[in-house]
Amino acid sequence: MRAPRPCKRVPSVGMIALAMVVFGLALAAGGSAQTMPKLPADFRFAAKGSPGTVLFSHRTHVNPEQPNCTTCHPGLFSILRPGTTANGLAMSHKQMQGGEACGACHNGKAAFAPTQGDKCMTCHRAVAS
Ligand code: HEC
Ligand code: HEC
Ligand code: HEC
Repeated sequence: MRAPRPCKRVPSVGMIALAMVVFGLALAAGGSAQTMPKLPADFRFAAKGSPGTVLFSHRTHVNPEQPNCTTCHPGLFSILRPGTTANGLAMSHKQMQGGEACGACHNGKAAFAPTQGDKCMTCHRAVAS
């Protein structure tokens, strides 16, 4: 009987699919200017009294294969009133924990939660000046 080979040497179907996706993204990034809208610059929320300015990056939130602008605009964030919740209120952890704004996804299920002690600086990463 053949001994099983160590798993980490055998690329699984999942790994191959992932490699293809990554390769596809690299190609798309190089040549799909017409499908991918120009993304706005990183947005900084002042986050007064917090551990630091909150930086939001479209680059890490938009899938270049399917630019999903309407996932967030205007339902979660109005482009017309930047830095607030969709209904124009000041953004806060209370709002997010109620499932609004970033909290629609950053709820500990779809993405890490704002209450996770090890994640504070992932969002509050730009040091306030
Ligand atoms: C998912 C991203 C995210 C994470 C993770 C996060 N924050 Fe925040 N935080 C924000 C946003 C967005 C604001 C509001 C910014 C604004 O409107 O200026 C904010 C605001 C704050 C404020 C200002 C008062 C308030 O309640 O809104 C404090 C204090 C704060 N954060 C502390 C923390 C601490 C401590 C952690 C870790 C336990 C943390 N944050 C993790 C995004 C995050
Ligand atoms: C994951 C959520 C999310 C997605 C998806 C998203 N945005 Fe945004 N967008 C934001 C947030 C957060 C801001 C920060 C300001 C605010 O509160 O409106 C913003 C701000 C903007 C702004 C205003 C920029 C500024 O500095 O005032 C524009 C323009 C914009 N987005 C365009 C787009 C386009 C085009 C797409 C699709 C390619 C897109 N967004 C997808 C969350 C998102
Ligand atoms: C439509 C869903 C969605 C919304 C809305 C959203 N995020 Fe995210 N975000 C994600 C997902 C999914 C990830 C990656 C998964 C993970 O790391 O848990 C992520 C990752 C991140 C990261 C780590 C990657 C990076 O950019 O460095 C930060 C920081 C972040 N989000 C901040 C925010 C802030 C601040 C807001 C609100 C202004 C926000 N996100 C709103 C879905 C969302």
